[in-house]
Amino acid sequence: MAMVCLSDFEAYAKKYLPKIAWDFFAAGADECSTRDENILAYKRIHFRPRMLRDVSVMDTRTKLLGTEISFPVGIAPTGFHQLAWPDGEKSTARAANAMNTCYIASTYSTCTLEEISAAAPGGFRWFQLYIHRNRAVSQQLVQRAEALGFQGLVLTADLPYTGKRRDDVRNGFRLPPHMKLKNLEGAFEGDDCSEYGLPPNSLDPSVTWNDIYWLQSLTRLPIIIKGILTKEDAELAVRHGAQGIIVSNHGGRQLDGGPATIDALSEVVEAVQGRIEVYLDGGIRKGSDVLKALALGAKCVFIGRPALWGLAYKGEEGLQDVLKILHDEFRLSMALAGCASVSEIGRHLVQFSKL
Ligand code: FNR
Repeated sequence: MAMVCLSDFEAYAKKYLPKIAWDFFAAGADECSTRDENILAYKRIHFRPRMLRDVSVMDTRTKLLGTEISFPVGIAPTGFHQLAWPDGEKSTARAANAMNTCYIASTYSTCTLEEISAAAPGGFRWFQLYIHRNRAVSQQLVQRAEALGFQGLVLTADLPYTGKRRDDVRNGFRLPPHMKLKNLEGAFEGDDCSEYGLPPNSLDPSVTWNDIYWLQSLTRLPIIIKGILTKEDAELAVRHGAQGIIVSNHGGRQLDGGPATIDALSEVVEAVQGRIEVYLDGGIRKGSDVLKALALGAKCVFIGRPALWGLAYKGEEGLQDVLKILHDEFRLSMALAGCASVSEIGRHLVQFSKL
């Protein structure tokens, strides 16, 4: 089977993954309206391409908080990579490193942070944190990540409780017995770990903006807030000293009925006024989606499900294939829109459909 675009990896994963794993990866909340909007919204944005602009030499590099990456696409944090491939997050770390991009490792990884670091020494990685009621657990995770050389702390803000994903409920989703949330091993000893490998209600729903100060007291790592969709929260993120924002709706897995991330991006970018970096995830499936997000002010985008499809196809190699395809498509879209480097991408490149 020729793997030409990301949908080919999606079709492969759907065909070959066990149904319970496929359903878990694909799930959105409730009716999946927001999950689907994340993709549809790109189709309402059109380019205003420029011609005759010498695109013989292309430069797709950019920087995330000062660190150079080969092109503006990183790996969003997703849990349970061993459901897609036996080596799990170790393969993800190797693929991201080989492609010289950023990998955000999830709290809910099926490999430890130490295993992830050892798999790709020197790779550019951020650590994604969920804050648990047992704050000592979260504190230790942050400090472990910093000591291991992770370069940023991504606080996921949109999950005080887990959204209702109907297929997971129908399937009675549980991690297979040989897989563990290895970063949290021992933390919930003796508890009933029936909810996504954790005891029900282990997350702390009382988290507020003030907890960013708590995180800042634990670590010198830059803090990036993931899950922002409004100008009000963007302003609060800046005021509380965050160094980045990921405009995200968790791939449509949390509040169903919220906006597509590409539709929320402009509001956040306008509020931030360049004071901190703004990134986006959700629905990125083509190089031209990346170009649209950058045109609307994102510094970089991240992929969630497509990375899992790549892993499901051929582990590290499959994920590299996914990243290579996106890189090639992004470079081509840039060239056809008349941009030879990322710095030439701007708001002038897009218009919203009047339909
Ligand atoms: C996620 N996401 C997520 N986010 C997070 O902060 N921590 C996590 O552990 C997870 N886990 C997770 C598992 C699965 C299976 C999915 C699909 C998503 C959300 C993720 O980081 C990202 O926001 C979305 O996946 C982006 O949308 P796309 O690229 O999947 O459309």
